[in-house]
Amino acid sequence: MIKPIKYVYLETTNYCNLACSFCNRDEVIGALQHMPLSKFRELLESIKEHPIKEGKLMGMGEPMLHPKFDEVCKMFKEYFPDAKLVVATNCQYNIGKGKALRERFETALKYTDVLYFSIDGYKKSYERDRAPAKWSRLIDFLDGFKGMNRSGCDVVINYVVNPDNVHDIEKIDNLRIDNELGELRLNIAQDWSEDKSLPGGYTKEQISYLKTNWSKNIKGKSEWDYEDCFWVEEGLYTTVEGNVKMCCMNTGAEPFGNLFETSINEIRTSKDFQNVKNGCNSNTPTSHCKNCSYKELVPMLSEIGVNNIYHE
Ligand SMILES: C[S@@+](CC[C@H](N)C(=O)[O-])C[C@H]1O[C@@H](n2cnc3c(N)ncnc32)[C@H](O)[C@@H]1O
Ligand code: SF4
Ligand code: SF4
Repeated sequence: MIKPIKYVYLETTNYCNLACSFCNRDEVIGALQHMPLSKFRELLESIKEHPIKEGKLMGMGEPMLHPKFDEVCKMFKEYFPDAKLVVATNCQYNIGKGKALRERFETALKYTDVLYFSIDGYKKSYERDRAPAKWSRLIDFLDGFKGMNRSGCDVVINYVVNPDNVHDIEKIDNLRIDNELGELRLNIAQDWSEDKSLPGGYTKEQISYLKTNWSKNIKGKSEWDYEDCFWVEEGLYTTVEGNVKMCCMNTGAEPFGNLFETSINEIRTSKDFQNVKNGCNSNTPTSHCKNCSYKELVPMLSEIGVNNIYHE
């Protein structure tokens, strides 16, 4: 039995201007490419019968570098007008008045329901973990954003927490307030590769600091087991090539098929896909899931007292 897809995570470019320390992009991407609009339409056509409630247009690249990203967002909404569209951007480009990217960015906002500004750490730690990002470029970006028509889009900060940037959270929360942004979302850094386990390294003081001050901002589930995995039931992750992966937790896994060659139904009923799904359903995970960050983060999130629904 397969359920319809409700949640999609679609990569439309794998170009990026950064090499963040916590991102496994360089280990998993193939040839650099932007998905042509005609291909994106073909992809949407192939899943249009599914009751998609939420779509994320991100992946292993910087979405706004796609030269037609505004049209990508528009097309997504054309197919799924009622779905919530979420985009994440690294803010390391110029959207000042008169700059080419300003128009693309501003138009994309019209179709985007939630936009994450990915900002992790303050000044030194930001530049360290998001190299070769520059703090000054981020500030210029935020200045360019001031006064822009947000078209109802909820613009929030998404902050990947690691032991070396825990104490910068408050500074970024102040930056959020100064720039009139929405919530501060904290994600404990996850390991998205297949065969490494999560680097821990937090001190007791840091855990207690997170628990006391930021537990409401931290996204995640402290009660989770493989049988709770929504990806195998109703999620879809696709790469810029149209390859189908199971989830964004294991982006290094071999694809289960390609949407431009095989129907989504065939891919989801294939033996390999069903093996991973059945492994999760019965709480006996296959090797695909052995290092799942949802599972690995459970002890820490439970210590901090976090329990909310999330999709990443
Ligand atoms: C992979 S990025 C793609 C979009 C864009 N390049 C960016 O950085 O915002 C999507 C989101 O995932 C976050 N992210 C990247 N690596 C992560 C990790 N190891 N654990 C948790 N979140 C991560 C990023 O900070 C970003 O907000
Ligand atoms: S997190 Fe985003 S900006 Fe950083 S390397 Fe990955 S895709 Fe690029
Ligand atoms: S690694 Fe497995 S259990 Fe974890 S999110 Fe992916 S499919 Fe689900």
